Amino acid sequence: MDIFESITTRRSIRKFTEAPVADEVIDRIIEAGTWAPSGMNNQPWKFGVIKDNEIKTKISTLTHYSKIVLSSNALIAVFLDNSLSYDRTKDCQAIGACIQNMLLTIHSMGLGAVWLGEILKSKDSILKLIGGPQDLELMAVIALGYPAQKGGKGSRKSLEQTIIFRK
Ligand SMILES: Cc1cc2nc3c(=O)[nH]c(=O)nc-3n(C[C@H](O)[C@H](O)[C@H](O)COP(=O)(O)O)c2cc1C
Repeated sequence: MDIFESITTRRSIRKFTEAPVADEVIDRIIEAGTWAPSGMNNQPWKFGVIKDNEIKTKISTLTHYSKIVLSSNALIAVFLDNSLSYDRTKDCQAIGACIQNMLLTIHSMGLGAVWLGEILKSKDSILKLIGGPQDLELMAVIALGYPAQKGGKGSRKSLEQTIIFRK
């Protein structure tokens, strides 16, 4: 798959089979995340991997998307480590690039995932639940596993709608 095909065929997957995702696979996904660019190469990200059903069940109560959390095989919590931050906007941009690297890697490996953002309304409770240090700020949770549904076609605004000028 070339890069353009990979980008355009990635879809959010919200239902997963029970097939387990190996730790080595998760490590590879996170490694891809860490190769994202970051301002001054400060690499402000930290990750938490959650496979434990009891913890997943507790997390599921903290989001509208409980079914996705429960269906997933693993969750990757992506944090901004504020102790490493030098410019919040740039650090958040780096975290976004890191998450996209992970989503594309997941897709390329035949797994599926969805970026969960609504769950951030409970970011403090989640940090408390997993016992993370105060410097960590939850930026997203990636729910992943082997897909139990096909990704749709997807839809995007046309270039005419999005390119506002060419001079
Ligand atoms: C910042 C952000 C937050 C998101 N939050 C959620 C979420 O809480 N729940 C969910 O089901 N999808 C969430 N998504 C996934 C989007 O709904 C999805 O990417 C979008 O509809 C486009 O679909 P596609 O990923 O299949 O191309 C989020 C995506 C982003 C980038």
